[in-house]
Amino acid sequence: MILEAREIWKTFQTPERVDILKGVSLSVDRGESIAICGRSGEGKSTLLHILGTLEKADRGDISICGKEWSPRSAHEIRNRHIGFVFQSYNLLDDFTVLENILMPARIGRRPADPAQGLLWLKRLDLLERAHFPAKLLSGGEKQRVAIIRALVNSPDLILADEPSGNLDRTHAEEVGHLLLSLVREEKKSLILVTHDPALARLCDKIYTLSEGHLTPNP
Ligand SMILES: Nc1ncnc2c1ncn2[C@@H]1O[C@H](COP(=O)(O)OP(=O)(O)OP(=O)(O)O)[C@@H](O)[C@H]1O
Ligand SMILES: [Mg+2]
Repeated sequence: MILEAREIWKTFQTPERVDILKGVSLSVDRGESIAICGRSGEGKSTLLHILGTLEKADRGDISICGKEWSPRSAHEIRNRHIGFVFQSYNLLDDFTVLENILMPARIGRRPADPAQGLLWLKRLDLLERAHFPAKLLSGGEKQRVAIIRALVNSPDLILADEPSGNLDRTHAEEVGHLLLSLVREEKKSLILVTHDPALARLCDKIYTLSEGHLTPNP
């Protein structure tokens, strides 16, 4: 099992108490892809951040690649095993596209491979943008850079929050096929939050998050 989350609870106190996750459990195998759907504001990004060790649950346990989440293990789990595509991209504006996608290697103190980075950029039609500062990109270009940045380290688990939210149909399909080909050919695991039914259907299982509960779609 690549990811096992048991009974995850999360409440936000500001400005009033809202129970966002009420005992969410989820298991993901190696080579498995999972789509999470649900209305805006139901807590999909919150859940993904918690599964990705970026945010802390109030209660519950998470283990990733056999390692139990703890405040001490979170950083290592994240660097070593997880690639995260943020809904709001989170690129470093003043760094170039290539610098952005090589950043995870630098942070993880692994050798960065610019040639590999350029190959990824070519694959998602971004080669001419390699030396542009990220702040000059369009929304869809930023989204594709964010996807590449999540993949360059070859993480075991890819967590992608609306990875096609800003893309035209052609690029959305390319991104969908790219993610799913990594799952099938390289046995990566994928959790995808999406409003796009076509993208969700590419995954092995579809879940809906509603009123704090995650349930498999029939
Ligand atoms: N740090 C926070 N403090 C207080 N409330 C928060 C915080 N983060 C998120 N929320 C609230 O929790 C709810 C769920 O937010 P979240 O971003 O997880 O939803 P979502 O399902 O990803 O929505 P969308 O589909 O619009 O991206 C929202 O009502 C949001 O305002
Ligand atoms: Mg969201």
